[in-house]
Amino acid sequence: MKKIIQFELGVHTDDQALGVDDRSLLDVARSALSRAYAPYSDFQVAAAVRLSNGTIIEGTNQENAAYPSGLCAERVALFYAKSQYPNEQITSLAIVTNHEELSSPVAPCGACRQVILEYQMNQKDPLQFLLSARKGTVYTLSDARSLLPLHFSKEDLKKAP
Ligand code: THU
Repeated sequence: MKKIIQFELGVHTDDQALGVDDRSLLDVARSALSRAYAPYSDFQVAAAVRLSNGTIIEGTNQENAAYPSGLCAERVALFYAKSQYPNEQITSLAIVTNHEELSSPVAPCGACRQVILEYQMNQKDPLQFLLSARKGTVYTLSDARSLLPLHFSKEDLKKAP
């Protein structure tokens, strides 16, 4: 027997096809790019999290001379959001990189996917992803489970032998 795991990805040529809320979340993330601290990789990333109470939290990647001490933009934004508003749901997450334009936007790293998915599993509704560069193609994705099939979760911790 085999299982085939598929997911749906929205591909938009630019943000004009998006709703006003999604466009403004992308704009917030794009404006935050200048606050990335990425002197080692020179790869700036910004994230904007929209919470169910309407609050928007921004984060940028923060690097360090001791390389593993740095943190991705997504986790900077999410950890701040959840430590300030633990009971609010995450409704959407925009992630942008400092490229002028990309035909295929950058997606979150594996560690960020794990963090995003756990928060999603703790809430009622899935969250919406918006992935883009400074302009151009926007990928939309409406469920964090698509990004991390066969994921590890707190349920697995109960399976200890
Ligand atoms: N980075 C992010 O902030 N988010 C991602 O999803 C991928 C990578 C950062 C980490 C590091 O500061 C730089 O990009 C290069 O890996």
